[in-house]
Amino acid sequence: MRLIIQNNYDDCSRWAAQYVAYKIKAFRPTAKKPFVLGLPTGSTPLGMYKLLIEMYQQKKLSFENVVTFNMDEYIGLDGKHPQSYRHFMYENFFNHVNIPAANIHMLNGMTKDYAKECQLYENAIKSYGKIHLFIGGVGEDGHIAFNEPGSSLSSRTRVKTLTKETIAANSRFFDNDPTKVPQTVLTIGIGTFMDAEEVLLIATGNKKARAIHHAVEGSINHMWPISITQMHQHGIILCDEAATSELRADTVRYFKDIEAQKF
Ligand code: GLP
Repeated sequence: MRLIIQNNYDDCSRWAAQYVAYKIKAFRPTAKKPFVLGLPTGSTPLGMYKLLIEMYQQKKLSFENVVTFNMDEYIGLDGKHPQSYRHFMYENFFNHVNIPAANIHMLNGMTKDYAKECQLYENAIKSYGKIHLFIGGVGEDGHIAFNEPGSSLSSRTRVKTLTKETIAANSRFFDNDPTKVPQTVLTIGIGTFMDAEEVLLIATGNKKARAIHHAVEGSINHMWPISITQMHQHGIILCDEAATSELRADTVRYFKDIEAQKF
């Protein structure tokens, strides 16, 4: 697993956007052989999306042959709801780049048949072979997508009930009122995430320091879903200095040394 440490949030966003652009270009995608990208919501990836949009506007990057799968969605919020992840993705990314509508995949939180929706999502991913690069954020409690602590490390796309901690953390998007936060969600599983050819998790700020400690220095444990990254053959955790504040000094130095030797 690579641990990339950048100075601050902006540097992390730049690193992530440049990495995504590099991977898409190196793949040389075509309509028949698209690049398949897994995408997150949350405040963390906003800077990356902004920079990817700029690259598109400057004609440095095209999303014409990119297929996307988002991680998760609240149950009961339709695409018009400002806090639905569908709305978030169109507002902050899809509306501003040249990705064809048919290439965008998102779980439908308004479905009446959750099991079918989740199975169809898994099937849709498989129809492309695999996701080439899955980007994620991380919750303060170490959750990936909406795989809360205690989630099976081999789980697939399914319904999950949110923990009180996640509802409290996400209430900042719902007028700071936890009662407005949906309690159930549809989410890709940890197994779905791990099937990707490469995974990139971004964590910034002091609030993520505990999760980064468990991800990097802890054992693989279902109580810290992010720790599964240790099992991925091509796993990257990208964080800022603030998010390393609970790592040992020699852990930080070790990973910085390794990255400094790469060229
Ligand atoms: C939500 C999302 C996660 C995201 C997490 C962290 O719970 N389901 O995918 O990683 O929030 O969000 P933020 O980036 O705003 O800290």
